[in-house]
Amino acid sequence: MGGAGYIGSHAVYEMVRAGHEVVVMDNLSTGSRDMVHPDARFRAGDIRVHGDLRQVFIAEQRPDAPPFDVVLHFAAKLVVPESMTQPLEYYHNNVEGVRLMLATMVDYNVRNVVFSSTAAVYGNPVGDGTCIEDTPANPINPYGASKLAAENLIRWVSEAHDMNYCIFRYFNVAGADASLEIGLLKDHLTHLIPVALQAGLGLRASMMVLGNDYPTPDGTCVRDYIHVTDLAKAHVLGAEYLLESQTSLLANLGSGTGFSVTQVLAEAEKHIHVPHSYGERRPGDPAKLVASNEVARTVLGWEPTLDLGDMISSDLAFRRKSNAL
Ligand SMILES: NC(=O)c1ccc[n+]([C@@H]2O[C@H](COP(=O)([O-])OP(=O)(O)OC[C@H]3O[C@@H](n4cnc5c(N)ncnc54)[C@H](O)[C@@H]3O)[C@@H](O)[C@H]2O)c1
Repeated sequence: MGGAGYIGSHAVYEMVRAGHEVVVMDNLSTGSRDMVHPDARFRAGDIRVHGDLRQVFIAEQRPDAPPFDVVLHFAAKLVVPESMTQPLEYYHNNVEGVRLMLATMVDYNVRNVVFSSTAAVYGNPVGDGTCIEDTPANPINPYGASKLAAENLIRWVSEAHDMNYCIFRYFNVAGADASLEIGLLKDHLTHLIPVALQAGLGLRASMMVLGNDYPTPDGTCVRDYIHVTDLAKAHVLGAEYLLESQTSLLANLGSGTGFSVTQVLAEAEKHIHVPHSYGERRPGDPAKLVASNEVARTVLGWEPTLDLGDMISSDLAFRRKSNAL
C-alpha cells in the first residue's frame, strides 16, 4: 500500500530484486505511476475505501491460499506542518486507512504486515537523544500521533486476530536508487538534504538553518540519516522474517550515527555550493535525535551500507537526471 511513493517505490524495487512478486495499491495522491517497478502489478485505489481494498484482494485471490503473504504499508500523509492544520485529515488517512487495511487483511486471512512508522513517535525524548525502541513514545504533532495510533491499532489487531507485524520506525531518509530510475519527487519538501540541494541547484534563493544555539558541538541540530536503499532492504528482511518466524518485531531504522546540520551542509558542499543563512529555532525541534539500531542489526541481520555522502550524491544525481527539482 503506497508503493508508488518515495520509500514504497524503493521497497518495491528491492522486493522485486529479491525475487518476490509484488502488487502495488496506491491512490497517487503524492506518488507517481512512473515510480512503480515495471515488474510489479499496479492497482489504483484508496485504502480509506473498503471497496477499493476488497477489489485488490479479490483480484489477487489465489485458489488455496490467501491473496498475499505480507502487506507492506507506506500509504500515509507525512508533512508535519500540514498535520498541524489538518489533524482530521491526517487521522483519517493514517489511522482509518490502516484500520480498513487490517480489516480487509483479516477478512482475506492475510496474517503478516510490515508498517512504516517514524522517529516522530518519540517526540522530544528525555536523555541524550538516543532512541531505543522502548524509549517512551510521546509524539508532539498530529503526524507523529497518528502514526503511533496506527502502531497501537496494529498491535491490538495482531493480538486479537493472530497476525504478525513488523513495525519500522524510520529516522531521516534520503537518497535515491542507484539506477536513478526512482527518487524523491515531491515539491513540498521540508527535509534538510533535498532542501539544501534545491538551494544548491538554484531552485530556492537560499536555505535557512533553524537555530545554531543548541547544546550540540557546533550548535546546530543533530539527526540520524539513513539511505533509502538501506531502508528498503530492511523491508525485504522484515517481510521474510515474518514469514519464517511468525513473530512480531518493532525496530528503529537509522544509521545509529548523528550528523549536525552544519556537517550535512559541509558534505553537500563537496558536490555543490549551498547558499544558506541562519534563523531562529523552530518550536518543537529537539537538539539531537539518533537511532539505536541494535534490534534491526541483531534480529534481522540488517546492516546499513551507504553513508551520508552516498545519500547526497544519489539525490543530486536523481534530481539532475529527472528534473525532480
Ligand atoms: N520520508 C521520510 O523521511 C519518512 C520518515 C519516517 C517515516 N516515513 C513513513 O514512510 C511512509 C512513506 O513515506 P514517503 O516518504 O514514501 O511518502 P510518499 O508521500 O512519497 O508516499 C506515500 C504513498 O502513499 C500513497 N498514499 C497516501 N495515502 C493513500 C491512501 N489513502 N490510499 C492509497 N495510497 C495512498 C501516496 O500516493 C504515495 O504514493 C509513510 O508511512 C511515512 O509515515 C517517511
